[in-house]
Amino acid sequence: MKSVRDVKILQNIPVIVRAALNEPVANGVVGDSFRLARALPTLRYLQSRGARVVVISHIGEAGTETLAPVAKKLGEMITHVSFCDQTIGSKAREAVRKLAPGELLVMENLRRNRGEVMNDLTFAKELAHLGDVFVEDSFDTCHRKHASIVTLPTLLPSYAGLLLEQEVAELTKALSPKSPSFAIIAGAKFSTKESVLDALLKSYDKLFIGGALANDFLLAAGHPVGSSLTSGADAAVIRKLLNNPKLVLPIDSRLGKKGTLASSARVAGLDDVATDEMILDHGPGTEALLASIVGKSAQILWNGPLGNYEDGYTQSTDALAHAIAASSAYSVIGGGDTIAAIEALNVLDRFSFVSTGGGAMLDFLADGTLPGIKVLDT
Ligand code: 3PG
Repeated sequence: MKSVRDVKILQNIPVIVRAALNEPVANGVVGDSFRLARALPTLRYLQSRGARVVVISHIGEAGTETLAPVAKKLGEMITHVSFCDQTIGSKAREAVRKLAPGELLVMENLRRNRGEVMNDLTFAKELAHLGDVFVEDSFDTCHRKHASIVTLPTLLPSYAGLLLEQEVAELTKALSPKSPSFAIIAGAKFSTKESVLDALLKSYDKLFIGGALANDFLLAAGHPVGSSLTSGADAAVIRKLLNNPKLVLPIDSRLGKKGTLASSARVAGLDDVATDEMILDHGPGTEALLASIVGKSAQILWNGPLGNYEDGYTQSTDALAHAIAASSAYSVIGGGDTIAAIEALNVLDRFSFVSTGGGAMLDFLADGTLPGIKVLDT
């Protein structure tokens, strides 16, 4: 990838930056600024070189949210930020024309226009009218074949931003870990994890399957899972993975019924699950097993909370976060929910690298690249 640092002249040039500004917003208030903080180095770099910076991003999935509160928050973190309530069109172009060197303009949510997710060429051309140079800095969306990710870069000279460069460098290192290495992948749908599991089983010494994803494996191994969430994965495919000696599965669980509080969960062995019970977290035996593997590992990779985190089943996730934070291993984590869980424990700074990607991180680890990276100038 060519780097934004390779652009010779930036003074007075309108530069489009695809940034990751999709932070949680409730009642008009930005709840977290982790991604905004990570967007700053590229924005500051461009600002200091006198570029006129046009920031494009999405927020939310439905295409209904506005980036206005996020632009306001960004304005508290970096100077000269304004917001345009349009993404494309004459009003948007006029606002860009008025930008002075060093000023930033955040355009409205890309996904308000269906052309973004439909990867529509006309929409991408409209975006291209906003600048002379394109900088990709939204690693978290580089797995999406959307107009701003895979088509806009083909219409302008295109460069990687500083965050994207850092993500690629760190996750490339995570593709060939130092031994003894330990990967932890949790989440739900097996179909969305199958290729990354295959890749990690080749490069890591041990791979723990956690969260609801583990239920598919426990079921295929012949354990009862009661009413737990499973993803209907092909048991024959999972059985093949079960034969791999690198695979580590939970050895006990915390069980509940619908509405059971995490504090009243029942700790049980793998074969002690009633038909009306659900596996909602891993148990203390699993926590101890994970801590012992972490303690012997030189490099660790983790994506996905282990238990039903949003309903308060945080114990095994918290225990794993504390174990990694206390270890001297090189640790890489990613995924919005995983980061939120670790932030809540105040140990995020104990991790060696925190990826801004969730699905993008998994796809990068599976394929070694992403559609939004492949398309950049080299
Ligand atoms: C994320 O939040 O993981 C990325 O920003 C991608 O968002 P999306 O899943 O809505 O495409």
